Amino acid sequence: MEPQKVPLLKTVRVLVTDACNLRCKRCFNEGYPNRGTYFADKETLVDAFARLGEPIQSIKVTGGEPLMHPHIDEVVSAFTEIAPTSLTTNGLLLRHKAADLAPEVPITVSIYGTRADEFAQYTQMPASVFEKVTEQLRVVNEWDDRTFRANIIIQPRKQWSVLRYVRFLEEFSFSTVRFLTLLGPEKDSVAYLKNLQATVEFLEQYTESEPSDDPSIRSFDAGNVEYQLVVQYDEFDADVRDRFGFVWIGPRGEVYQNKDESVFSTRGFTQPRS
Ligand SMILES: C[S@@+](CC[C@H](N)C(=O)[O-])C[C@H]1O[C@@H](n2cnc3c(N)ncnc32)[C@H](O)[C@@H]1O
Ligand code: SF4
Repeated sequence: MEPQKVPLLKTVRVLVTDACNLRCKRCFNEGYPNRGTYFADKETLVDAFARLGEPIQSIKVTGGEPLMHPHIDEVVSAFTEIAPTSLTTNGLLLRHKAADLAPEVPITVSIYGTRADEFAQYTQMPASVFEKVTEQLRVVNEWDDRTFRANIIIQPRKQWSVLRYVRFLEEFSFSTVRFLTLLGPEKDSVAYLKNLQATVEFLEQYTESEPSDDPSIRSFDAGNVEYQLVVQYDEFDADVRDRFGFVWIGPRGEVYQNKDESVFSTRGFTQPRS
């Protein structure tokens, strides 16, 4: 008898726009080289899903900054018909745009600093933008009908910043706090590896929960908050990549995959301004 072919479980990351209102120094822009003001058309994206024609485990709405999309509520609603959907944002437009999104969609807010100077340095924006984002976090913190998660990129030269982030986030009720390993040219630097080690040591103080179905995530249960360490797809072993494929859909409906070398090349990274 022919062995049965097991379908891939796919997480599809959709860049609904390549526009953004921050200029983060190490942004990998989902490996997408064009940065502009292109907003994806809902029909184009839904067609791209139809072309994929494979079972889809989950959809992650990303960008660019997805809340800049003028019809993000309609786009997200269309995705919820296809698979469980979540959205990741830098938080700048949170209070004005998040309330329109389908309530079952969890929102992940990326946190780019615990202080105005740190935020400004990383995002290359005026320090006042930090206060704007923090204010929005305070407002949505009062909403109890939606799940909010936080993403923090583990940065080089920031040893022990993990403690600062944990304390900063205590003010807000994020259900999950995720530390993301870094993608990009600095990911093998000694400074980065030291900080990664410090983060892992911190997380290991908590009881590790059941292994997740998702090979990229290690979970650490700390009572009200679940901490997670998210390992990037370029670090998976080949056999894991085969079973757990990532797919991206770009704002013009292009489909690209983690098999595609260009996703991991540096061409998608923002060049820091000199
Ligand atoms: C490209 S952003 C797009 C969504 C939104 N603009 C934001 O910043 O959350 C999606 C996620 O990728 C993360 N990210 C960006 N550059 C990264 C890098 N070089 N390594 C690891 N994660 C990165 C961000 O922190 C964010 O959580
Ligand atoms: S990581 Fe920063 S620059 Fe990149 S898309 Fe998100 S907010 Fe914009």
